[in-house]
Amino acid sequence: MILEMRDIVKEYTLGRTASRVLDHVNLTVEEGEYLAIMGPSGSGKTTLLNLIGCLDVPTSGSYVFAGRDVTKLSQKQLADLRNREIGFVFQFFYLLANMNAIENVALPLLYQGVHKKERMERAAEALRTVGLEDRMKYRPDQLSGGQSQRVAIARAIAARPRLLLADEPTGALDSQSGAQVMDIFDMLHRSGSSIVMITHDRNVAARADKIRTICDGVLAEEAVENE
Ligand SMILES: Nc1ncnc2c1ncn2[C@@H]1O[C@H](COP(=O)(O)OP(=O)(O)OP(=O)(O)O)[C@@H](O)[C@H]1O
Ligand SMILES: [Mg+2]
Repeated sequence: MILEMRDIVKEYTLGRTASRVLDHVNLTVEEGEYLAIMGPSGSGKTTLLNLIGCLDVPTSGSYVFAGRDVTKLSQKQLADLRNREIGFVFQFFYLLANMNAIENVALPLLYQGVHKKERMERAAEALRTVGLEDRMKYRPDQLSGGQSQRVAIARAIAARPRLLLADEPTGALDSQSGAQVMDIFDMLHRSGSSIVMITHDRNVAARADKIRTICDGVLAEEAVENE
């Protein structure tokens, strides 16, 4: 098992009122699983993904990631865990504009203290995995949206994370680029990656092993198992 959340509650306090955005969420993700989470806008999907990815901490509940009690880690330990164990792919790629593709992909490895030669080798390998070996020196403004997302995926996998998280990774792409990105996730899944993906798109969710739905902060206990 990669992670287990029990009774997770997340509340945001604005002024004097607290609003509950996640309501007693239970979630486990197994090694090698590909899980899609679907739900309407504002239902708490990004909030949940941010908690899974240790970008934020729950108001209450227990969260164990790779055998570690996340709620007991310091900010430094959380940052370390995120950097080493979790890869993120967002709707809008967040590539650094003044760096080319390979530099963007190599950057998280720098924070891990990987030496330059190995950083570049691993970044190049990740770019080959997403089919961009001919675009390594291109800057983000010289790449299409689909290519930019593939660079972002390469960046997410370069550190060989235990878990890959994606928040609407095809949301900003045309259907053809979206299909290419989905093929890459399929390939990563076949090669053993564990993936949690948020999507509005039924066709995208249908490629996962399982779908769970969230509505008003309540994650349905039962999962739909895909063929
Ligand atoms: N930092 C915050 N402070 C206060 N409320 C927040 C904060 N972040 C999110 N919310 C509220 O939490 C609820 C869930 O937001 P979230 O971003 O998780 O939804 P979502 O399911 O990802 O929606 P979408 O599909 O539109 O991306 C929303 O009502 C939002 O207004
Ligand atoms: Mg969202």
